[in-house]
Amino acid sequence: MTDQALIDAAVQVRQRAYAPYSKFFVGAALRTVDGDVFAGCNVENAAYPQGICAEGGALTSMVAGGGRQVVEIVVCGSGPAAVTPCGGCRQKLREFAGPDLRISMVNEVGHVVMVRTLAELLPDSFGPDHLLP
Ligand code: THU
Repeated sequence: MTDQALIDAAVQVRQRAYAPYSKFFVGAALRTVDGDVFAGCNVENAAYPQGICAEGGALTSMVAGGGRQVVEIVVCGSGPAAVTPCGGCRQKLREFAGPDLRISMVNEVGHVVMVRTLAELLPDSFGPDHLLP
């Protein structure tokens, strides 16, 4: 079962997204191994590549708040279909989560439309364990 508090946080923070160019609002909320919840939304920029995804924002907030290990994340996109994390965000999640990370995609009213593990979305991934002794 997807954590309802995370669903609520992702739906809420999506409403704060700054997406004047794509008009595609995304929210993400994650829970750490310590039980803390951090959220983020996409923040676009007139210089398009400088935009930040919701998942990246949530991870930045987590690190700034002292968190290091994600155990669950909920992504809330626009429209009825599942918005899965982009390739870059999958790799960013890999830095702070294991292959079993539960990734739930919810629609804008908070209904779960897809659940995947990180390993399913990013198989045979490259991670910190490849570099750190
Ligand atoms: N976006 C996210 O925030 N997360 C995703 O997983 C997919 C895409 C954002 C980036 C951009 O601001 C908008 O959605 C359209 O691509």
